[in-house]
Amino acid sequence: MLYLFELGHQPHISIAEIESVLKAHQVTFEEKLQTDRFFVLYTEDPLDMESLMDQLGGTKLMGFYIEQRKSIEQTIFEFLLENQTGKIVFSVENAKNRNLGIAIKRKLKDANYSARYIEYKNTATLLHNKLVEKKGAFFILHGEVFVISGIQKLEGFAQRDFDKPGVDAKSGMLPPKLARIMINLARKTPPATVLDPFCGSGVLLMEALDMGYHVVGSDNSARAIEDTHKNIEWIVTAEPKIQKLSSHVFLEDVRNISHSLQPKSIDIIATEPYMGKPLTGKEGELFLKEQRQELKDLYHDAFREFHTILKDDGVIIFIIPRFYYRKEWIIIDCLREILSLGFVQVPFNKDDDTLLYHRVSQHVGREIFQFVKK
Ligand SMILES: C[S@@+](CC[C@H](N)C(=O)[O-])C[C@H]1O[C@@H](n2cnc3c(N)ncnc32)[C@H](O)[C@@H]1O
Repeated sequence: MLYLFELGHQPHISIAEIESVLKAHQVTFEEKLQTDRFFVLYTEDPLDMESLMDQLGGTKLMGFYIEQRKSIEQTIFEFLLENQTGKIVFSVENAKNRNLGIAIKRKLKDANYSARYIEYKNTATLLHNKLVEKKGAFFILHGEVFVISGIQKLEGFAQRDFDKPGVDAKSGMLPPKLARIMINLARKTPPATVLDPFCGSGVLLMEALDMGYHVVGSDNSARAIEDTHKNIEWIVTAEPKIQKLSSHVFLEDVRNISHSLQPKSIDIIATEPYMGKPLTGKEGELFLKEQRQELKDLYHDAFREFHTILKDDGVIIFIIPRFYYRKEWIIIDCLREILSLGFVQVPFNKDDDTLLYHRVSQHVGREIFQFVKK
């Protein structure tokens, strides 16, 4: 079967995430199309699209390919007759397809079916009208029809992002979708144990719990630990499925974290570390270079500790920031030091050794690396 994925705003990262999740579930697949917006793959194994959409952070919607008839109109018409009873309700992604929608509705009426065409505005249109469950939502890519079978649950992300009680705007927060992507990139299915040793307010830990992982979090700021405690308590109360998972959160400098954890006890370290003082874009080169050295030393010390607490088959997904200065990137060149501690860097796929997450307006780019023990 052919499956379609509509990708988020960092498509190369979304694709690496999809590949990681499928590989973690031992699904074999073949890539058919990659663009800035879409990823199409072929697999013989049927995908559980509902649970995939629950898991992925970087995919907006998913669909599956159906048998194509002599025209788009005929394909959708026949599919609706085969899959809906009573009043037929449907929508076609993208408001530009309005004429097509109206033509299909007319065709249904002419054939004596009662039908309602709902003009597409955004994925909320599909959610509110339960069109995915009804198999009444269609997507057209290069003249081929896909049935939309899963939509990203934006409400869950928004709640965890905006409604959580502990927020520290000062230290900057990891976007929850990116946190989820990072956990997925580790290719280890739950219930493994995920550690975030720079946990801040616990964004990554909340996503990990929601995905079914046990979590361990630490930070050297008492305020951050207090926020994380509050946030975890909040999400556990809201989500009974999380209550059976363990969470252990404590105050500790990353440079001493092996004093507080058992050796070889962690499956996944996924973290956005301290990335230096927040930048305005007006900083001078000297300041940035000094900051670079400070972070390089911190990351080096952190990885020495990681080597002790990570299981032998454990995985590290780590963000190394880079700073945009006078139209060039200032990079923290700590790779050689990290590797010399007994790690191997693992590429994400054939195209990407690392994944750069960057929005044009930002002075900091986040480069995601994957490491395993040698
Ligand atoms: C970029 S923030 C992480 C934000 C977090 N990902 C979130 O979304 O809330 C970095 C965190 O690292 C912590 N930190 C800075 N230096 C540290 C150190 N040496 N050891 C442990 N934590 C440290 C800071 O207190 C801060 O909470």
